[in-house]
Order: sequence, then C-alpha cells, then structure tokens
Amino acid sequence: MKTIIIKDLEQFDQATRIIREGGLVAAPTETVYGLCANALNETAVGNIFKAKGRPNDNPLIVHIADLDMLYKLVTEVSPIAQKLIERFWPGPLTLIFKAKSIVPRAVTAGLDTVAVRFPSHPLMQKLIKDSGLPIAAPSANTSGKPSPTNMQRVFEDMDGKIDCIIDGDSSEIGVESTIVDTTGDIATVLRPGGITYEMLEEVLGKIAIDPAITNTLKEGQKPKAPGMKYTHYSPNADVFIIKNSSAYFDVAHHNMFGDLDNLREHLTTLVNEAHEHNKKVGILATDETKHLFDADLVLSAGTESDLQTISAHLFEVLRSFDDNGIDIVYSLAFPKKGLGVAIMNRLEKSAGYHFITI
Ligand code: TXA
Ligand code: MG
Repeated sequence: MKTIIIKDLEQFDQATRIIREGGLVAAPTETVYGLCANALNETAVGNIFKAKGRPNDNPLIVHIADLDMLYKLVTEVSPIAQKLIERFWPGPLTLIFKAKSIVPRAVTAGLDTVAVRFPSHPLMQKLIKDSGLPIAAPSANTSGKPSPTNMQRVFEDMDGKIDCIIDGDSSEIGVESTIVDTTGDIATVLRPGGITYEMLEEVLGKIAIDPAITNTLKEGQKPKAPGMKYTHYSPNADVFIIKNSSAYFDVAHHNMFGDLDNLREHLTTLVNEAHEHNKKVGILATDETKHLFDADLVLSAGTESDLQTISAHLFEVLRSFDDNGIDIVYSLAFPKKGLGVAIMNRLEKSAGYHFITI
C-alpha cells in the first residue's frame, strides 16, 4: 500500500475521504499521534488492529468533536462525567461510559463500556468534523513500541501499512490521555496522563486509582483498562530506572534526584560495568543534570522546571537511543507528582519495572 503524506490544508479533503471510505489515517493530537478509522465501521476498525499488530482484546478510544456525538455513543452521562467534561474537554482526558449497541464490538473488545475523548488538536478535530464521524484511534505506533509524537516516527512504524499520514507539529503533551472510569460511584483513574490527579481532585474532591497504575494488582486481578496489562513503550534497549533513596529528602531542597555526587558515582560504575560487557550505554537525564554524566549517549528529556517538556520528549528520547544502537539505558526517576505520575508510569513500563536503587 502506498502511504500518502498530507502536508497542507489544501490536501486535507483526501484524508477525510479516506476515513469516510473505511481507510486508515494517522493524525496528530495534543497527546500522541493517533491511528484513525471510522469508529462505526467494523472492518475499518479491524484494520487498525492489523496495522499495529495489536491484540484484539484491547479496546480503542473513540474520538469526538462535539457533545451530540457523545450522546449517540453512550447510554448515560453521570454527574461525575458531566463535571469532568465541563472542565477538561476538549483535552487530554478519556472518559469511560456505558456503551450503546451502535458501538461495534471491535472497538469495545466486547466490554459493555466505551472510552470517549474530545481532543483539542485542531487537525484531529477537523478530521472528525469534516468526515462527520466518530473516530476510533489508538496511538499510531507498532504495538509495544513507544507512542509516536511526530510524523517521522509514525512513518517509521506505519509506512506501507496505512493509507495516509497527516503531518502536524510534535505533540505538546507527549504521553497519552488520562483515562477515568465514570460509570461507578467514584471516578477511577485507569491510566495517568496529561490531566493530573491534582487537577481531577480539584474538580471532584475524591478520586480512586486503579491498582494497575501503582503496580499493586493482586494475583488474578485484572486492570480495568485492558491495555494496562501489556508491556508497552519499550525501545529495543533495556531500560533501568535509577532510584536514589536520598531523593525524597532532597525534594525540599529543590533537587528532585537527591545527592547528585552519589548518583554520578553510581552511574559511572554502572557504565563501566556495561562497557566491560561491550554494551553501549545511554543515560536519560534532564537539562539540569546531563552535563554530570558520561556514557555513549546522554540525552535530556527536558527541564526539571517544567515537567511538560519532559513528557513531551520522553518517547522521542527513548526512540533516539534505539537510533543510536544503545543496548542499555539508565534513566533518572522523576518525582510522582503532577505530570510526574504519567511520566513515571510510561518509564516504568518501558523498563519492565526494572529498578536499581542506590
Ligand atoms: O491520548 C490518547 O488517548 C491517544 C490518542 C491517539 O488519543 N490514544 C491512545 O489509545 O492512547 P491507545 O489505544 O494506545 O490506548 C487506549 C487505552 C488502552 O489501555 C485500552 O485498554 C483503554 O484505553 N480502553 C479503551 N476502551 C476501554 C474501556 N471501555 N474500558 C477500559 N479501558 C479502555
Ligand atoms: Mg498505545
């Protein structure tokens, strides 16, 4: 299949036509690029799973561009959902509702609920509005890889497998939307993302957090978002998260990584050990710390003074280590506050929960 790339608005109608005709279009959103199809066309949705190599039991998020579309898809909008919609839509928040039967099984993976998001990105909104259709869209990566935050990474994974890619800017937030289940008595976060716990609590008071996020699932217990059980966001390199046990004392002194001399010393030892085994080593650091370290490739994800710069570049940095043939990545651990929760959730998954505590 020849994948066409749309670079300006004059060609945009082609993308709209492809969606209407049941094809696949990758489009930018404020979180990550999405792989879009008509959510009401079972065959088109099935092709999303094929292009990504995605397991069929992992349901998709349906994207809308006005609230009329929501009422066509869901049986009930609870008071919790209403509050969240008023405050955070359009934006990086996905809500779980009871689904109407119009939503195909391929989208819900057989659940009686459906995930819906109203994205803020103007090109994604235009695709939904111009086609007049709700759009099912997972992240536009090959299943298991870090999600793409720019058109080049979509091209690497999807060229020849989908009809079209819409070229937009790099995604502003860089990690996927927060998912909140609104079908129960209390709002439950199923995946942390751009809308933080603090922001949700400000609107709702109390929230619950699915144990899949805190990695405290008991045996036999399943995450409520089926996708949370898969290994994810993994570059080819083996990722390890360096936990500095002194960091928690140092947050008060505006140093999120604790005793930096200690950190540097341990990392030097780890890099030397890896070199003895002929491994190429990368370090994932910040603008403030990258000069401290020596390895085959030291990359900063962003500045500690603005965690959104770090979420925005996280997946791109992970993919860059692969571009450079890095075998082992040591990553600093960010404090789990604000966007730090979503950043660490993605990092922990990309590391397969491998930590080194120093
Ligand atoms: O930011 C985002 O949400 C991006 C952009 C493209 O909008 N999309 C995205 O989709 O991250 P995906 O497919 O990579 O992740 C969807 C997640 C999966 O973990 C899936 O299990 C969960 O949403 N999900 C979908 N429907 C669900 C449902 N009815 N109940 C619980 N979880 C659901
Ligand atoms: Mg994904």
